[in-house]
Amino acid sequence: MAGILGLGGYVPERVMSNDDWAALVDTTDEWITARTGIKRRRFASDDESTLDMAAAAAELAIKDADLSPADIGEIIVATDTPELYLPDTSSLLQDRLGCGNVPTYDLGGSGCAGFVQALDVARARIQFAPRKVLVVGVELISRLMSWKSRATCVLFGDAAGAVVMGPGEAKAEVLDVVTGTDGSKADILTLRTGGTRHPFSIDAAKTEAHRNIEMHGREVFREAVLRMSSAVTDVLRRIGKSVADVALVVPHQANKRIIDAVRKRLGVAEESVYVNVEEYGNTGSASVPFALWEAHQTGRINAGDLVVLTAFGAGFHWAAAAVQF
Ligand code: UT7
Repeated sequence: MAGILGLGGYVPERVMSNDDWAALVDTTDEWITARTGIKRRRFASDDESTLDMAAAAAELAIKDADLSPADIGEIIVATDTPELYLPDTSSLLQDRLGCGNVPTYDLGGSGCAGFVQALDVARARIQFAPRKVLVVGVELISRLMSWKSRATCVLFGDAAGAVVMGPGEAKAEVLDVVTGTDGSKADILTLRTGGTRHPFSIDAAKTEAHRNIEMHGREVFREAVLRMSSAVTDVLRRIGKSVADVALVVPHQANKRIIDAVRKRLGVAEESVYVNVEEYGNTGSASVPFALWEAHQTGRINAGDLVVLTAFGAGFHWAAAAVQF
């Protein structure tokens, strides 16, 4: 079975408050707080990159696992905001950490579901060929998003989270993971410019089309609630448990209202759901691993706890993982 051997997390120091946004776009602290529950988010400094943030979280996770980079046998990085367009961030991370010539790959474009999907891939890889897999979720979205579109810019923050998975002495076992995708809903959350259908161009740059995240907010909201709650129910059914057995749900931190709606649908008590969206906003693929790391660090997770991770993202993807500490 694949276990979690170590956890790590990183957020940049710079704090961007709702009032800071209100000084730049037509919004208010009241609107952002009421609609999303977000009060602040962290933004990377000018000399920080995706790779720096990924490496910071990865180093902590490797240390927490009592391992060295040379022990890592494979690396998966989930991100939609890579260090470069080519090559992938995982190659650069392998070199930065000094992991040796182990296989690495990125999982990109699946929005905020990327990390839990990567966890599932890592679990399968470990069962097939036992090895220690570093799984990172990282997002430096502040540098790639539009700072003019109030409908999206106020939602996001930068962060990184990481776990080392493998056989052996584990802090937690990943009991099961469910994942799913509805490609017919691809258009509810898109960034169209930059790929082969709409290549990057001077005209696109002039209108900032390459930064324009198009989102049907209400539909994303609806799908998120439906898919995360059913993914949690499914993964619990598969391991023969119910919500009453769950010590903590760690959901993707997109919006406090989405988290509350999932909690109510599942019938989970408020204290059994981890929420940090107020402090960090939506940090994409980093959201679940960072929240898991923070919950573990701050004593919200204890030995014996059954923890369920769940996420959704552009695609439209969803996933849930049952993790026994
Ligand atoms: O990884 C990305 C995942 N994305 C999500 O999780 C988003 C899911 N959806 C949501 O969280 C919500 O739909 C939002 C928070 C994005 C929006 O909340 P809503 O309650 O669905 O509001 P709305 O989109 O229906 O907009 C209501 C009003 C609109 O004005 P009108 O048309 O009613 O006059 C918007 O123009 O709020 C306006 N609005 C804003 N006002 C102040 C939109 N953004 C802002 C803003 N400040 N930042």
